[in-house]
Amino acid sequence: VGDDHAAPAAGSTATAVASGGVEPFHGRHQAGISTPPQLHTHFVALDVTTDERKEVVGLLRRWTRVGATLAAGDRPGAASGGGVDSGEALGLPPARLTVNFGFGPGLFATGGDDRFGLRSVQPWQLVELPPFPGDALESAATGGDLSLHVCADDPQVVFHAVRSLVRAAEGVARVRWAQPGFNETAATEGTPRNLMGFKDGTLNPATTAQLAAAVWVGAEGPDWMTGGTYLVVRRIRMDLAAWDALGVSAQERVIGRHKVSGAPLGAEHEADPLRLSARTAAGDLVIPADAHVRLASPAQNWDSVILRRSYSYANPSTGAAASSGPGPPEPLDAGLLFFSYQRNPRLSFVPIYRKLSANDALRRFTVHTASAIFALPSGVTAPGRWVGAALFA
Ligand code: HEM
Repeated sequence: VGDDHAAPAAGSTATAVASGGVEPFHGRHQAGISTPPQLHTHFVALDVTTDERKEVVGLLRRWTRVGATLAAGDRPGAASGGGVDSGEALGLPPARLTVNFGFGPGLFATGGDDRFGLRSVQPWQLVELPPFPGDALESAATGGDLSLHVCADDPQVVFHAVRSLVRAAEGVARVRWAQPGFNETAATEGTPRNLMGFKDGTLNPATTAQLAAAVWVGAEGPDWMTGGTYLVVRRIRMDLAAWDALGVSAQERVIGRHKVSGAPLGAEHEADPLRLSARTAAGDLVIPADAHVRLASPAQNWDSVILRRSYSYANPSTGAAASSGPGPPEPLDAGLLFFSYQRNPRLSFVPIYRKLSANDALRRFTVHTASAIFALPSGVTAPGRWVGAALFA
Protein backbone atom coordinates (compact mmCIF):
# COMPACT_ATOMS: atom_id res chain seq x y z
CA VAL A 1 0.00 0.00 0.00
CA GLY A 2 1.31 3.42 -0.83
CA ASP A 3 0.56 4.68 2.63
CA ASP A 4 1.34 2.72 5.73
CA HIS A 5 2.40 -0.75 4.71
CA ALA A 6 4.01 -2.11 7.82
CA ALA A 7 6.58 -4.27 6.09
CA PRO A 8 7.66 -6.14 3.00
CA ALA A 9 6.89 -9.15 5.15
CA ALA A 10 7.32 -12.71 4.11
CA GLY A 11 4.21 -14.49 2.88
CA SER A 12 1.98 -11.43 2.70
CA THR A 13 1.78 -11.30 -1.08
CA ALA A 14 -0.62 -14.18 -1.43
CA THR A 15 -3.12 -12.27 0.71
CA ALA A 16 -2.69 -9.11 -1.36
CA VAL A 17 -3.32 -11.02 -4.59
CA ALA A 18 -6.45 -12.58 -3.15
CA SER A 19 -7.73 -9.16 -2.15
CA GLY A 20 -7.80 -7.97 -5.76
CA GLY A 21 -4.21 -7.24 -6.64
CA VAL A 22 -4.48 -3.45 -6.50
CA GLU A 23 -1.83 -1.46 -4.62
CA PRO A 24 -3.09 2.08 -4.04
CA PHE A 25 -1.15 4.66 -6.04
CA HIS A 26 -2.21 7.55 -3.79
CA GLY A 27 -0.90 7.97 -0.26
CA ARG A 28 1.47 9.82 2.02
CA HIS A 29 4.39 7.75 0.68
CA GLN A 30 4.98 6.64 -2.88
CA ALA A 31 4.07 3.01 -3.54
CA GLY A 32 6.62 0.25 -4.11
CA ILE A 33 8.87 1.13 -1.17
CA SER A 34 7.36 -0.46 1.93
CA THR A 35 4.98 -2.50 -0.26
CA PRO A 36 5.60 -6.26 0.10
CA PRO A 37 7.92 -7.09 -2.81
CA GLN A 38 6.32 -8.22 -6.05
CA LEU A 39 7.71 -10.91 -8.36
CA HIS A 40 9.04 -8.67 -11.12
CA THR A 41 10.67 -5.29 -11.40
CA HIS A 42 12.06 -2.91 -13.99
CA PHE A 43 14.18 0.01 -12.93
CA VAL A 44 14.78 2.90 -15.35
CA ALA A 45 17.11 5.90 -14.97
CA LEU A 46 16.54 8.76 -17.40
CA ASP A 47 18.40 11.89 -18.50
CA VAL A 48 16.36 15.05 -18.97
CA THR A 49 16.90 16.31 -22.52
CA THR A 50 15.06 19.63 -22.28
CA ASP A 51 16.14 22.90 -20.63
CA GLU A 52 12.52 23.96 -20.10
CA ARG A 53 11.30 23.68 -16.53
CA LYS A 54 7.68 23.67 -17.67
CA GLU A 55 8.33 20.60 -19.83
CA VAL A 56 9.66 18.74 -16.79
CA VAL A 57 6.56 19.78 -14.88
CA GLY A 58 4.43 18.55 -17.80
CA LEU A 59 6.21 15.19 -17.68
CA LEU A 60 5.67 14.80 -13.92
CA ARG A 61 1.99 15.55 -14.35
CA ARG A 62 1.71 13.00 -17.18
CA TRP A 63 3.68 10.38 -15.26
CA THR A 64 1.43 10.84 -12.25
CA ARG A 65 -1.71 10.39 -14.35
CA VAL A 66 -0.35 7.36 -16.19
CA GLY A 67 0.97 5.77 -12.97
CA ALA A 68 -2.36 6.20 -11.17
CA THR A 69 -4.31 4.88 -14.17
CA LEU A 70 -2.15 1.78 -14.57
CA ALA A 71 -2.07 0.98 -10.86
CA ALA A 72 -5.88 0.99 -10.88
CA GLY A 73 -5.84 -1.52 -13.75
CA ASP A 74 -7.06 0.98 -16.36
CA ARG A 75 -5.38 1.75 -19.68
CA PRO A 76 -3.52 5.06 -20.01
CA GLY A 77 -4.50 6.19 -23.58
CA ALA A 78 -5.99 9.61 -23.02
CA ALA A 79 -4.43 9.91 -19.56
CA SER A 80 -0.95 9.94 -21.07
CA GLY A 81 -1.87 13.06 -22.98
CA GLY A 82 -2.53 11.49 -26.36
CA GLY A 83 -1.67 8.30 -28.13
CA VAL A 84 -3.38 4.96 -27.95
CA ASP A 85 -2.62 2.27 -25.43
CA SER A 86 -0.13 -0.22 -26.82
CA GLY A 87 -2.46 -3.06 -25.83
CA GLU A 88 -0.14 -5.73 -24.51
CA ALA A 89 -1.71 -5.65 -21.05
CA LEU A 90 -5.34 -5.78 -22.26
CA GLY A 91 -7.33 -8.15 -20.07
CA LEU A 92 -4.56 -8.46 -17.51
CA PRO A 93 -5.26 -7.54 -13.87
CA PRO A 94 -3.04 -4.83 -12.29
CA ALA A 95 -1.02 -7.57 -10.55
CA ARG A 96 -0.13 -5.29 -7.60
CA LEU A 97 1.53 -2.80 -9.93
CA THR A 98 3.45 -0.03 -8.20
CA VAL A 99 5.21 2.89 -9.82
CA ASN A 100 7.41 5.48 -8.16
CA PHE A 101 9.46 8.42 -9.36
CA GLY A 102 12.69 10.02 -8.15
CA PHE A 103 15.00 12.98 -8.73
CA GLY A 104 18.75 12.48 -9.18
CA PRO A 105 21.46 14.99 -8.19
CA GLY A 106 21.77 16.06 -11.86
CA LEU A 107 18.28 17.58 -11.78
CA PHE A 108 19.57 19.94 -9.10
CA ALA A 109 22.56 20.91 -11.25
CA THR A 110 25.22 18.83 -9.53
CA GLY A 111 28.13 18.94 -11.95
CA GLY A 112 26.31 21.07 -14.53
CA ASP A 113 24.09 24.03 -15.37
CA ASP A 114 21.30 25.10 -13.07
CA ARG A 115 18.86 24.59 -15.97
CA PHE A 116 15.78 24.28 -13.79
CA GLY A 117 16.69 26.74 -11.04
CA LEU A 118 16.81 23.99 -8.41
CA ARG A 119 20.44 24.23 -7.27
CA SER A 120 19.62 26.13 -4.11
CA VAL A 121 17.01 23.60 -3.00
CA GLN A 122 19.00 20.39 -3.40
CA PRO A 123 18.67 18.46 -0.14
CA TRP A 124 22.04 17.93 1.53
CA GLN A 125 21.15 14.27 1.95
CA LEU A 126 21.10 13.81 -1.86
CA VAL A 127 24.83 13.41 -2.39
CA GLU A 128 26.55 11.80 -5.38
CA LEU A 129 27.80 8.45 -4.09
CA PRO A 130 31.57 8.45 -3.59
CA PRO A 131 33.73 5.84 -5.32
CA PHE A 132 34.08 2.67 -3.25
CA PRO A 133 36.99 0.20 -3.35
CA GLY A 134 36.37 -2.52 -5.92
CA ASP A 135 33.68 -0.63 -7.87
CA ALA A 136 33.63 -1.50 -11.58
CA LEU A 137 30.82 0.87 -12.54
CA GLU A 138 29.85 1.18 -16.18
CA SER A 139 29.49 4.92 -16.77
CA ALA A 140 26.56 4.32 -19.12
CA ALA A 141 24.79 2.47 -16.28
CA THR A 142 25.41 4.99 -13.55
CA GLY A 143 23.47 8.04 -12.43
CA GLY A 144 20.41 9.63 -14.04
CA ASP A 145 18.34 12.81 -13.58
CA LEU A 146 15.06 10.95 -13.02
CA SER A 147 14.13 7.48 -11.85
CA LEU A 148 11.13 5.43 -12.75
CA HIS A 149 10.64 2.20 -10.82
CA VAL A 150 7.95 -0.32 -11.70
CA CYS A 151 7.12 -3.54 -9.82
CA ALA A 152 4.28 -6.04 -10.31
CA ASP A 153 3.55 -9.74 -10.05
CA ASP A 154 3.26 -10.11 -13.85
CA PRO A 155 6.23 -9.36 -16.15
CA GLN A 156 4.01 -8.22 -19.01
CA VAL A 157 2.20 -5.76 -16.73
CA VAL A 158 5.61 -4.42 -15.68
CA PHE A 159 6.76 -4.04 -19.26
CA HIS A 160 3.55 -2.36 -20.36
CA ALA A 161 3.89 0.20 -17.57
CA VAL A 162 7.53 0.90 -18.41
CA ARG A 163 6.69 1.28 -22.09
CA SER A 164 3.76 3.62 -21.39
CA LEU A 165 5.79 5.77 -18.99
CA VAL A 166 8.87 5.96 -21.22
CA ARG A 167 6.61 6.94 -24.11
CA ALA A 168 5.05 9.68 -21.98
CA ALA A 169 8.59 11.07 -21.50
CA GLU A 170 9.33 11.44 -25.22
CA GLY A 171 10.96 14.76 -26.03
CA VAL A 172 11.60 15.54 -22.34
CA ALA A 173 13.73 12.69 -21.01
CA ARG A 174 15.40 9.63 -22.49
CA VAL A 175 16.40 6.34 -20.96
CA ARG A 176 19.97 6.37 -19.69
CA TRP A 177 20.06 2.85 -18.32
CA ALA A 178 17.54 0.26 -17.22
CA GLN A 179 17.58 -3.10 -15.49
CA PRO A 180 14.83 -5.67 -15.05
CA GLY A 181 14.85 -8.06 -12.10
CA PHE A 182 12.91 -10.89 -10.52
CA ASN A 183 12.11 -12.18 -7.12
CA GLU A 184 11.74 -15.75 -6.11
CA THR A 185 9.33 -15.89 -3.37
CA ALA A 186 7.09 -13.10 -3.09
CA ALA A 187 4.19 -15.42 -3.87
CA THR A 188 5.24 -18.24 -1.56
CA GLU A 189 6.11 -18.42 2.11
CA GLY A 190 9.22 -16.98 3.67
CA THR A 191 12.10 -14.67 2.89
CA PRO A 192 13.22 -14.84 -0.76
CA ARG A 193 16.57 -16.43 -1.61
CA ASN A 194 19.07 -14.50 -3.70
CA LEU A 195 21.14 -16.15 -6.46
CA MET A 196 23.78 -17.21 -3.92
CA GLY A 197 21.05 -19.36 -2.39
CA PHE A 198 20.77 -17.39 0.87
CA LYS A 199 17.64 -15.85 2.32
CA ASP A 200 17.93 -12.11 1.77
CA GLY A 201 15.81 -9.55 3.57
CA THR A 202 15.50 -11.18 7.00
CA LEU A 203 16.52 -8.20 9.08
CA ASN A 204 14.73 -5.14 7.78
CA PRO A 205 12.75 -2.33 9.36
CA ALA A 206 9.18 -3.63 9.43
CA THR A 207 6.83 -1.83 11.77
CA THR A 208 5.37 1.60 11.09
CA ALA A 209 7.60 3.01 13.84
CA GLN A 210 10.75 1.38 12.44
CA LEU A 211 9.97 2.66 8.96
CA ALA A 212 9.34 6.15 10.31
CA ALA A 213 12.68 6.09 12.09
CA ALA A 214 14.81 4.65 9.27
CA VAL A 215 13.09 5.27 5.96
CA TRP A 216 10.64 8.18 5.78
CA VAL A 217 11.92 11.74 5.80
CA GLY A 218 10.42 13.60 8.76
CA ALA A 219 10.62 17.07 10.24
CA GLU A 220 14.17 17.53 8.93
CA GLY A 221 12.59 18.18 5.51
CA PRO A 222 12.76 19.76 3.01
CA ASP A 223 8.95 19.94 2.94
CA TRP A 224 8.59 18.30 -0.48
CA MET A 225 10.52 15.29 0.90
CA THR A 226 8.42 14.81 4.04
CA GLY A 227 7.11 11.24 3.81
CA GLY A 228 9.55 10.60 0.98
CA THR A 229 12.87 8.76 1.11
CA TYR A 230 16.22 8.35 -0.66
CA LEU A 231 16.88 5.41 -2.95
CA VAL A 232 20.27 3.82 -3.60
CA VAL A 233 20.42 1.35 -6.51
CA ARG A 234 23.44 -0.88 -7.11
CA ARG A 235 23.65 -3.65 -9.68
CA ILE A 236 25.95 -6.19 -8.07
CA ARG A 237 27.33 -9.00 -10.21
CA MET A 238 28.08 -12.24 -8.37
CA ASP A 239 31.04 -14.44 -9.21
CA LEU A 240 28.84 -17.51 -9.03
CA ALA A 241 31.49 -19.94 -10.28
CA ALA A 242 33.81 -18.99 -7.40
CA TRP A 243 30.87 -18.99 -4.98
CA ASP A 244 29.82 -22.51 -5.99
CA ALA A 245 33.41 -23.72 -5.68
CA LEU A 246 33.57 -22.47 -2.10
CA GLY A 247 31.24 -25.08 -0.58
CA VAL A 248 28.37 -24.49 1.80
CA SER A 249 30.10 -24.16 5.16
CA ALA A 250 32.63 -21.61 3.86
CA GLN A 251 29.73 -19.73 2.20
CA GLU A 252 27.97 -19.65 5.56
CA ARG A 253 31.03 -18.07 7.18
CA VAL A 254 31.12 -15.39 4.45
CA ILE A 255 27.49 -14.44 5.10
CA GLY A 256 27.34 -15.24 8.83
CA ARG A 257 24.10 -17.22 8.50
CA HIS A 258 23.14 -20.80 7.68
CA LYS A 259 22.19 -21.37 4.08
CA VAL A 260 19.12 -23.58 4.38
CA SER A 261 17.45 -22.15 7.49
CA GLY A 262 18.71 -18.56 7.30
CA ALA A 263 19.51 -18.76 11.04
CA PRO A 264 22.51 -16.77 12.30
CA LEU A 265 25.61 -18.94 12.80
CA GLY A 266 25.35 -20.47 16.24
CA ALA A 267 21.53 -20.25 16.28
CA GLU A 268 18.70 -22.42 15.06
CA HIS A 269 15.96 -20.26 13.58
CA GLU A 270 15.93 -17.49 10.99
CA ALA A 271 14.35 -15.08 13.46
CA ASP A 272 16.92 -15.74 16.21
CA PRO A 273 19.02 -12.70 17.12
CA LEU A 274 22.59 -12.27 15.86
CA ARG A 275 24.91 -12.98 18.79
CA LEU A 276 27.89 -10.99 17.62
CA SER A 277 30.05 -11.56 20.68
CA ALA A 278 29.53 -15.35 20.91
CA ARG A 279 32.73 -17.42 20.74
CA THR A 280 33.48 -21.09 20.19
CA ALA A 281 35.12 -23.21 22.88
CA ALA A 282 38.42 -22.50 21.09
CA GLY A 283 37.81 -18.76 21.51
CA ASP A 284 36.98 -17.92 17.87
CA LEU A 285 34.07 -15.67 16.96
CA VAL A 286 31.07 -17.80 15.93
CA ILE A 287 30.07 -15.14 13.38
CA PRO A 288 33.47 -14.34 11.81
CA ALA A 289 34.97 -10.85 12.03
CA ASP A 290 34.56 -10.27 8.28
CA ALA A 291 31.10 -11.90 7.90
CA HIS A 292 28.64 -9.82 5.87
CA VAL A 293 25.90 -9.72 8.51
CA ARG A 294 28.31 -8.67 11.26
CA LEU A 295 29.76 -5.76 9.26
CA ALA A 296 26.33 -4.65 7.96
CA SER A 297 24.61 -4.95 11.32
CA PRO A 298 23.21 -1.75 12.88
CA ALA A 299 25.10 -2.72 16.06
CA GLN A 300 28.36 -2.19 14.14
CA ASN A 301 27.14 0.93 12.29
CA TRP A 302 26.08 3.49 14.87
CA ASP A 303 22.56 1.94 14.79
CA SER A 304 22.10 2.96 11.14
CA VAL A 305 19.26 1.03 9.54
CA ILE A 306 18.34 0.79 5.85
CA LEU A 307 15.35 -0.87 4.16
CA ARG A 308 16.57 -3.39 1.58
CA ARG A 309 14.12 -4.38 -1.16
CA SER A 310 16.40 -6.12 -3.62
CA TYR A 311 15.67 -8.28 -6.65
CA SER A 312 17.80 -10.79 -8.55
CA TYR A 313 18.86 -10.11 -12.12
CA ALA A 314 20.27 -12.26 -14.91
CA ASN A 315 21.44 -10.56 -18.11
CA PRO A 316 22.47 -12.12 -21.38
CA SER A 317 26.18 -12.56 -20.89
CA THR A 318 28.62 -11.24 -23.42
CA GLY A 319 32.26 -12.06 -22.73
CA ALA A 320 33.03 -8.35 -22.61
CA ALA A 321 30.30 -7.40 -20.14
CA ALA A 322 31.21 -10.20 -17.83
CA SER A 323 34.95 -9.67 -17.71
CA SER A 324 35.16 -6.08 -16.47
CA GLY A 325 35.50 -7.05 -12.81
CA PRO A 326 38.47 -8.48 -10.99
CA GLY A 327 39.42 -12.10 -11.53
CA PRO A 328 38.74 -14.38 -14.47
CA PRO A 329 35.71 -13.75 -16.72
CA GLU A 330 32.45 -14.84 -15.14
CA PRO A 331 30.31 -16.86 -17.57
CA LEU A 332 27.03 -15.35 -16.30
CA ASP A 333 26.16 -11.70 -15.72
CA ALA A 334 23.83 -12.28 -12.81
CA GLY A 335 23.48 -11.13 -9.24
CA LEU A 336 21.63 -8.72 -7.01
CA LEU A 337 19.73 -5.63 -8.13
CA PHE A 338 20.14 -3.96 -4.76
CA PHE A 339 17.63 -1.30 -3.73
CA SER A 340 17.94 0.38 -0.37
CA TYR A 341 15.71 3.10 1.02
CA GLN A 342 16.85 5.37 3.80
CA ARG A 343 16.04 8.67 5.38
CA ASN A 344 19.61 9.93 5.02
CA PRO A 345 22.02 8.04 2.75
CA ARG A 346 24.99 10.10 3.95
CA LEU A 347 24.53 8.70 7.45
CA SER A 348 23.50 5.17 6.49
CA PHE A 349 24.21 3.67 3.07
CA VAL A 350 27.50 5.56 2.53
CA PRO A 351 29.24 4.71 5.82
CA ILE A 352 27.80 1.17 5.92
CA TYR A 353 28.95 0.38 2.41
CA ARG A 354 32.29 2.10 2.96
CA LYS A 355 32.90 -0.39 5.74
CA LEU A 356 31.59 -3.34 3.70
CA SER A 357 33.60 -2.43 0.60
CA ALA A 358 36.80 -2.43 2.65
CA ASN A 359 36.33 -5.51 4.83
CA ASP A 360 33.34 -7.66 3.86
CA ALA A 361 34.22 -11.29 3.03
CA LEU A 362 31.42 -11.10 0.43
CA ARG A 363 33.37 -8.54 -1.59
CA ARG A 364 35.59 -11.31 -2.99
CA PHE A 365 32.50 -12.70 -4.77
CA THR A 366 30.76 -9.51 -5.90
CA VAL A 367 31.43 -6.53 -8.13
CA HIS A 368 29.25 -3.43 -8.40
CA THR A 369 28.62 -2.52 -12.06
CA ALA A 370 25.80 0.06 -11.89
CA SER A 371 24.93 2.70 -9.33
CA ALA A 372 22.58 5.61 -8.77
CA ILE A 373 20.93 7.67 -6.06
CA PHE A 374 17.58 9.47 -6.13
CA ALA A 375 15.34 11.53 -3.88
CA LEU A 376 11.87 9.95 -3.93
CA PRO A 377 9.50 12.76 -2.96
CA SER A 378 6.44 12.32 -0.78
CA GLY A 379 3.48 10.44 -2.21
CA VAL A 380 0.65 11.94 -4.25
CA THR A 381 -2.18 12.18 -1.77
CA ALA A 382 -5.16 12.61 -4.11
CA PRO A 383 -6.16 12.46 -7.77
CA GLY A 384 -5.42 15.75 -9.51
CA ARG A 385 -2.18 16.30 -7.59
CA TRP A 386 1.18 15.35 -9.10
CA VAL A 387 4.47 13.98 -7.92
CA GLY A 388 7.05 16.64 -7.07
CA ALA A 389 4.52 19.49 -7.20
CA ALA A 390 5.83 20.95 -3.96
CA LEU A 391 9.39 21.01 -5.35
CA PHE A 392 8.44 22.80 -8.55
CA ALA A 393 5.84 25.06 -6.91
C1 HEM B 1 25.43 -9.27 -3.80
C2 HEM B 1 25.49 -8.52 -2.72
C3 HEM B 1 24.84 -8.87 -1.42
C4 HEM B 1 24.38 -10.08 -0.97
C5 HEM B 1 24.42 -11.41 -1.69
C6 HEM B 1 23.84 -9.85 0.34
C7 HEM B 1 23.28 -10.84 1.14
C8 HEM B 1 22.82 -10.67 2.41
C9 HEM B 1 22.30 -11.71 3.25
C10 HEM B 1 22.18 -13.17 2.83
C11 HEM B 1 21.94 -11.16 4.44
C12 HEM B 1 21.36 -11.89 5.64
C13 HEM B 1 19.87 -11.95 5.68
C14 HEM B 1 19.21 -10.63 5.95
O1 HEM B 1 19.21 -10.12 7.08
O2 HEM B 1 18.65 -10.09 4.99
C15 HEM B 1 22.23 -9.75 4.34
C16 HEM B 1 22.01 -8.83 5.33
C17 HEM B 1 22.27 -7.48 5.22
N1 HEM B 1 22.88 -6.84 4.16
FE1 HEM B 1 23.49 -7.68 2.45
N2 HEM B 1 23.97 -8.53 0.67
C18 HEM B 1 24.58 -7.90 -0.38
C19 HEM B 1 24.90 -6.57 -0.48
C20 HEM B 1 24.67 -5.65 0.51
C21 HEM B 1 24.98 -4.25 0.39
C22 HEM B 1 25.62 -3.56 -0.81
C23 HEM B 1 24.58 -3.68 1.54
C24 HEM B 1 24.67 -2.20 1.84
C25 HEM B 1 25.00 -1.40 2.53
C26 HEM B 1 24.01 -4.70 2.39
C27 HEM B 1 23.47 -4.52 3.64
C28 HEM B 1 22.94 -5.51 4.44
C29 HEM B 1 22.33 -5.24 5.73
C30 HEM B 1 22.17 -3.88 6.40
C31 HEM B 1 21.93 -6.49 6.23
C32 HEM B 1 21.22 -6.76 7.58
C33 HEM B 1 22.22 -6.82 8.67
C34 HEM B 1 21.55 -6.78 10.04
O3 HEM B 1 20.51 -6.15 10.20
O4 HEM B 1 22.11 -7.36 10.98
N3 HEM B 1 24.09 -5.88 1.72
N4 HEM B 1 22.77 -9.47 3.11
